[in-house]
Order: sequence, then structure tokens, then C-alpha cells
Amino acid sequence: MRNSKPKKVTAFAPATVANVGCGFDVLGFAIHGMGDRVTATRSENAGVRINSIEGDEGRLPRDPEKNTAGLSALGLLKKMGLTNEIGIDLSIEKNMPLGSGLGSSAASSVAAVVAINCLLGSPFSKEELLPFSVEGEIAASGTAHADNVAAALFGGFILVKEHQPPDVISLKTPKKLHCTIIHPDIEIQTSSSRKILKKEVLLEKAVKQWGNVGSMIVGLYTNDYELIGKSIHDEIIEPVRSLLIPGFAEMKLAALEAGALGCSISGSGPSLFALSKSRKIAMDVGMQMGLALDKIDLKYSMHVSKLNTRGAYCEGLD
Ligand code: HSE
Repeated sequence: MRNSKPKKVTAFAPATVANVGCGFDVLGFAIHGMGDRVTATRSENAGVRINSIEGDEGRLPRDPEKNTAGLSALGLLKKMGLTNEIGIDLSIEKNMPLGSGLGSSAASSVAAVVAINCLLGSPFSKEELLPFSVEGEIAASGTAHADNVAAALFGGFILVKEHQPPDVISLKTPKKLHCTIIHPDIEIQTSSSRKILKKEVLLEKAVKQWGNVGSMIVGLYTNDYELIGKSIHDEIIEPVRSLLIPGFAEMKLAALEAGALGCSISGSGPSLFALSKSRKIAMDVGMQMGLALDKIDLKYSMHVSKLNTRGAYCEGLD
């Protein structure tokens, strides 16, 4: 626990890939070099305010009761019984596109609670901060899925054992793993891409899926990169959601032919992720996936990096 209480703290939280193919709502990992920043400043006026949001083109709600970061912040203050006693102004810097499938709302809500926690002298552990961010995610998508927020908070690979209350296990993250992200220039809201999913699953598909979740975890713990790749397989969610992503099949094929271990939809899409064993392969994979989108004239952005294993943190405090 930290004793000093600064007046202003900025926290960073990384972008994340949820589901990882086989683990709808239960698996996720954090990406290096992409994420949101939130600055929390003490104010004389009680309550939470969102003073500014950069990078959202004015599209996100400024009302803290309607904003994922604001709701998470309010939840934290309520838990401490400080809602009417402490004033906090939030400035949010969004560095990833909205509706991209890269955990944009999760990154902001995690950065907000991490910044406020530091501002208040770190009364909560990261584990204790998780439920506040999950509350924010309910506002964003209508459901309490913790895969993005847990990966953003803790970094590395995570497994969500339970969502309400959240019970999350941090998994091993093999060092050589590199992630390629291709973000086609379209937007998909998590809430709408959840609505199109079937509520019932064939037993034989469920059996395959839990086999792959298990083998993914074995692959992570034994540094078995090929097994990790083989486990990125999804016959339940991907066939439905991929219909919303132009060029999906071509991009996936291009990624695998270029040497990716595996490739699927990042979270609720439209971004795709591919995992590779080296930066060079991950770059080649991205180039080939991009070519597939060039053929259909769809603009995209690409990100290649290692995985983030640090998670969210307050800047300048260590
Ligand atoms: N697991 C969630 C989903 C993540 O796939 O809907 C949303 O980014």
C-alpha cells in the first residue's frame, strides 16, 4: 500500500484480445503498445466528472453515469463510501478506434479505476478493482463479461472462471508470442454482435470447444506454440460473427499461409488477431492479411507487437 496521495495521476491500460478463438468470454490477452490513458485529478467539488475525452470524435457520453470509465469510477467511490465526499475529474485519452474489438471500453474503465486507486493511496489490490471495471463493461455491452477488463488490468493471458462476481486466473504467457492485429475500417458494436449469437450450442461443438480451451492452457504452460495455434479454433462464435467482417475468410487463410500459429476474430470484431512465434513472421502475416483487404478495397490498420504482460499501471509513480 502506498501512503502518499498525489493530486493528479495518469494510468495506462492496454488494448486486449478477448475470446482467443476457442474461449468465448473466458480467455483474453493484452497487447503491447496500444491502449488508453486516463488522468484522475482531485477536485474540491464532490462527485465524478468527465472533463474531457480525446480521440472519440465527440461520440462517447460525457455523463459519468453513462460512460464506462465514469461508472467504474462511481462504483469505486461508492464502495469506499466516498461518493459525496471526494471530487474527481477524469480526462480520457482514447488511442484505439471505437467498436474495433480491441477492448476500447475496457481499457478506459480499467485505466480510470487504476488512476483513482493511485490517487487515493492504493486502498485496493488489482483483484479488488476488477468488479468496478466489470460494472463499466455492463454499461458498454449490456453483459458482465470480464475477459477484456481482466486482461487489461492484469496483462498477459487470463482465464475468467466466473463472471459475477468475477473470478479470474492469470495464465502463463510464452515469451516468443507475437500478435498481429488487422483492424478493417468498419465498426461493430459488441452489443449487436452478441445479439446475433445463438443461445444454444450443439453438444458436439461444445465438446470441441472445451477441448480447445484445455489444450490452449496446456500450450501456454508448456511453451508449445504449435498446440497454442491448433487450439485457436472456434466452430460456435466465429462462423456467425465472421459474416459481419468483409474478407474474413481470405484474411484468415492468408495469415495461416504466412506462418501464423492461429488466427481468429478479436473479441466481437471487426479486428482479427493472429499469433506467431516471431516478430518477423507476425509482420509477414500482417502484410498478407492486409493484401487480402486491398483486394476488396477495404482500408485497415495493422499493429504488430509482443503481448503486454504488465497490465494497467499508474505512470510516474514507480
Ligand atoms: N467476449 C466478448 C464478446 C468480448 O465476444 O462479446 C467483447 O469484446
